[in-house]
Amino acid sequence: LNFEQTSFIKSAAKLSQCPEDVGREVAFAGRSNAGKSSALNALTGSKKLARTSKTPGRTQLINFFSLTETLRLVDLPGYGYAKVPEAVKAEWQQHLENYLQKRDSLIGLILLMDIRHPLKEFDQIMLEWAEFYQKPVHILLTKSDKLKFGAAKQAALKVQRELKPFGNLVTLQLFSSLNKMGVDELKQQLSTWLLD
Ligand code: GTP
Ligand code: MG
Repeated sequence: LNFEQTSFIKSAAKLSQCPEDVGREVAFAGRSNAGKSSALNALTGSKKLARTSKTPGRTQLINFFSLTETLRLVDLPGYGYAKVPEAVKAEWQQHLENYLQKRDSLIGLILLMDIRHPLKEFDQIMLEWAEFYQKPVHILLTKSDKLKFGAAKQAALKVQRELKPFGNLVTLQLFSSLNKMGVDELKQQLSTWLLD
């Protein structure tokens, strides 16, 4: 797969606006500011394919990108943006579950967590849904550049222990969009899922 060939398809506010549900896609999920859009840019070698921001809540629509005619990557809006009213959060959570439940072409989730704040409530909810709908999850512990390598490894082991109950359904790696750590491993995981 040539990830540099990725191009933007469209944005959707709800399921009915998504591209036709054919082929295969992998979605990037995670709390606001976890680094989803930055990871997509690191993966595709583009600085501005997905919009990033210091302000949490930058990505507010489901953004679809095409890798090939039939394979897609999806940038999901971040959850947990503090300035969004509770009712809006609840509505988005409903949209998100709807997408996970109904989207047949969704074959797996990349779940991003800031390595300094892993397994928050949203992450637990995503993992429980993924288990319920039997979609595999590959976790990126993002912003690993913020910790020394030894500390990052320790943090990864700790999260890994807590994920034992999910068995093979959930895998995990260190990642940094800043220094590109883990980009090749992520490409490997996506290729395995998308080309399987
Ligand atoms: P929403 O769209 O709001 O959900 O956020 P997002 O998850 O798409 O995060 P985004 O990629 O916009 O990044 C949020 C902030 O974190 C930006 O200021 C990025 O520059 C920063 N950031 C993202 N990835 C990394 C990383 O690997 N290392 C460091 N140090 N900063 C990062
Ligand atoms: Mg974003």
